[in-house]
Amino acid sequence: MDTPALFIASDHAGFSLKQDLLAHLREKSRNIQDLGPASDLSADYPDYARTLCARILAANAFGILICGTGIGMSIAANRHQGIRAALCLHEFQAEAARRHNDAKILCLAARLTAPPLARALVDVFLAAPFEGGRHQRRIALIDQV
Ligand code: RB5
Repeated sequence: MDTPALFIASDHAGFSLKQDLLAHLREKSRNIQDLGPASDLSADYPDYARTLCARILAANAFGILICGTGIGMSIAANRHQGIRAALCLHEFQAEAARRHNDAKILCLAARLTAPPLARALVDVFLAAPFEGGRHQRRIALIDQV
């Protein structure tokens, strides 16, 4: 099976961590597309979340969104119908976000998460499979609001 497409975006607070993760993933030969920004000048996270979510939905892809706290990106991404974005600070969360929640987007808090941990969170998130079964029933219930 083809490796799913992978996209990354941030705001200004997440820019430096985004660049670190791009290098990490490219070193591992993972094809990843950078959706910006191109510098650490002030950038509004909802705009970058919107752009990345559109790509995730169009390509059934995976994504990484980074802001200072991870909170703004996760709130913005989860407003998009069909998107499940998970803010993770621990590897246990990153694994469960895939296994239990079938999250397609990992949100990171650049001001709380040092690059080595962020790399580990990304690696765990991208490697863990969705378990389906009872978890499929539960994620279907999320959309019944
Ligand atoms: C930017 O200062 C900061 O508000 C943003 O990166 C993010 O943490 C918002 O939720």
